[in-house]
Amino acid sequence: MASPVALVQGASRGLGLQFCRSLLRRSPTAHVIATCRNPENAKELLALQNENRNRLDVEKIDLALPRDIQGVAEKVKESGVSKLDLLINCAGVLHPSGRGETSLRDVSIEGLSTTLTTNAVGPLLMAKHFAPLLSKGSGEYGSKAQSKPHAGVIVNISARVGSILDNKGLGGWYSYRMSKAALNMATKNLSIELARGRSPVICVSVHPGTVNTDLSRPYHKSVPKDKIFTAEYSVECILKLVDGLTMEDTGKFLAWDGEPIPF
Ligand SMILES: NC(=O)c1ccc[n+]([C@@H]2O[C@H](COP(=O)([O-])OP(=O)(O)OC[C@H]3O[C@@H](n4cnc5c(N)ncnc54)[C@H](OP(=O)(O)O)[C@@H]3O)[C@@H](O)[C@H]2O)c1
Repeated sequence: MASPVALVQGASRGLGLQFCRSLLRRSPTAHVIATCRNPENAKELLALQNENRNRLDVEKIDLALPRDIQGVAEKVKESGVSKLDLLINCAGVLHPSGRGETSLRDVSIEGLSTTLTTNAVGPLLMAKHFAPLLSKGSGEYGSKAQSKPHAGVIVNISARVGSILDNKGLGGWYSYRMSKAALNMATKNLSIELARGRSPVICVSVHPGTVNTDLSRPYHKSVPKDKIFTAEYSVECILKLVDGLTMEDTGKFLAWDGEPIPF
């Protein structure tokens, strides 16, 4: 059995860092490539790399810089990595201002373009540059019991607020909602294109729940305490969900517990 190879994009902190920890812990042979925009400042990720010298590579990708994405894809191939079993597009920004974008008054081209670039364009470019390696994946992640075997898996970390149908009364957060809806459309399109051929790749959007990270912490007051997950719990649920994925699931928008979310 070949060793599983996973790439976690947005690994400096929060859910991305936890994905690296959990993937390394779950499989003693797993190799993880972690990317983040400032590796030198990602102290916890560097500490994890120290503990897993030969199993965790750290590379620099700022999603606003397409050359970073292309450069790392080329470097990974040149380093002899011949396949990718799992790509987790995890990085995300709620709004670059750090303030709420709760009404039309707060909307700006800068806010929109940074949020869309980080949450939707960057993940799609990741898929573009890593699709060749994903199509060489050996089905290490996802269900092995299925009639149509797959090669790799792409997990785009989305958010329930990206669901148009679910946006019933609250509104607001134009940039974030638009970016996650755009990411979900990218997931759907990828699921169609990457299902063709003999080495199909599963692609899903996943809502991680409300998780205790820097991104959501300022807004926890309005959420009941028992509805706020630790990053560890959310990631374990998502990896369990990934374990069961088949080609039947490709293109879906799912919550951490496998519940389908309408687009
Ligand atoms: N937490 C929640 O309750 C929740 C709910 C629904 C969905 N999500 C989604 O879950 C994902 C992870 O969020 P989180 O909660 O872990 O947030 P977080 O702790 O704030 O982490 C955000 C991550 O995104 C990275 N990032 C931001 N802009 C980037 C860029 N231009 N290039 C590369 N990396 C960039 C950050 O890197 P730096 O360290 O360099 O800033 C950091 O690693 C996001 O997609 C978010 O939308 C979270």
